[in-house]
Amino acid sequence: MENEVSVKANMSEANVKSQCDGRNQKYVELDRINVIFPTNKGPFQALKDISLSISQGEFITLIGHSGCGKSTLLNVVAGLNMPSTGAALCAGREIPGPGPDRGVVFQNHSLLPWLTCFENVYLAVERVYGTKEGKPKLKKRTEDAIALVGLSHAAHKRPQEISGGMKQRVGIARALAMNPKVLLMDEPFGALDALTRAHLQDELMKIVAETKSTVIMVTHDVDEAVLLSDRIVMMTNGPAATIGEILAVDLPRPRNRLQLAENPHYHHLRGQVLEFLYQKQVRQAA
Ligand SMILES: Nc1ncnc2c1ncn2[C@@H]1O[C@H](COP(=O)(O)OP(=O)(O)OP(=O)(O)O)[C@@H](O)[C@H]1O
Ligand SMILES: [Mg+2]
Repeated sequence: MENEVSVKANMSEANVKSQCDGRNQKYVELDRINVIFPTNKGPFQALKDISLSISQGEFITLIGHSGCGKSTLLNVVAGLNMPSTGAALCAGREIPGPGPDRGVVFQNHSLLPWLTCFENVYLAVERVYGTKEGKPKLKKRTEDAIALVGLSHAAHKRPQEISGGMKQRVGIARALAMNPKVLLMDEPFGALDALTRAHLQDELMKIVAETKSTVIMVTHDVDEAVLLSDRIVMMTNGPAATIGEILAVDLPRPRNRLQLAENPHYHHLRGQVLEFLYQKQVRQAA
C-alpha cells in the first residue's frame, strides 16, 4: 500500500518534469529524507522517506493535516532542521544550515517591535550585504523590497502601528530583500482575514512572476494551494509522514481568482486535494 502511494507520487512528478524543460529541474532536491526527533519518550519519527525534486522558478505548496510534518519539512530546506538520514540539496550543494540563499517567512512574521518596517528589513539586508556594499546601496535594496510589497508609505512605522496584513508584507519584504534563491513560507497568510489574504495572494503571484523565485509554501487552505501552485505536495498523516500524492496544477498564468471560480478544471483540481485530505487521509481524533 505504502509502495503503491510512493509510486503514484513519483509518477506524477515525472509527468510534470517532462513539462518544464529548460529550467534546472533539481534546484531543490530532497533525497530519502527521514527526520527523527529525540523526545523523553524515545525517538519520534516525524518524516519518513521523503524524496522530491523542485525546479527553479517552481511554486510548490505543502498541504496536509495539522501535525503531519509540513513545518518540519520546510525547516529541512531552511536548514533549521537537519535530516536524520538522507540528503537535502539546494543548487547542487548540501544544505549546511540557515543561509541567505533561502529566505524564510514565518507565520508570526517575527518582526522586532522596537524597529520601524524599514529598519526591520534593513537589518536583514545589512547582514547579507553589509560587508560588500555601502550604506546608500543597502538603503536602496531595502526601499526596493518595501516598494515591491506596496508598503513605501508605512516604512517609518513600527510593527504595533500597522495591521496584521502589513506586518506579513514586511516579513515578505525582509525575505525578498535578501534576494534569496528560494523563498520558504510557513502559512504566511494563516492568521489573516479572507479579504486581506486574497489581496496578499494576488500580490505574491505578481512578485513571484517578477522575481521568478522558487517558492515552497505551507498552507492549510485548499483554494490557496490551487491558486498559487505549480504542484501541490500532499502529505500523509504522521507519525512517519511522507508524500502521499503530488498534484500538478496545470492552470495557465497569470491566474485570476474570479475567472478560476468559473473554470471546471480548477474545481476538478480542488476536488482532488479535498478527496486526498478528507477521504484518503481522514484525520484521526487527537
Ligand atoms: N523539535 C521537535 N521535537 C519533537 N517532536 C517534534 C519537534 N518538532 C516537531 N515535532 C513533531 O513532529 C510532528 C510534525 O510537526 P510539524 O510542526 O512539522 O507539523 P505541521 O504539519 O507543521 O503542523 P501544523 O499544521 O499544525 O503547523 C508533530 O507530531 C510534532 O509534535
Ligand atoms: Mg506547521
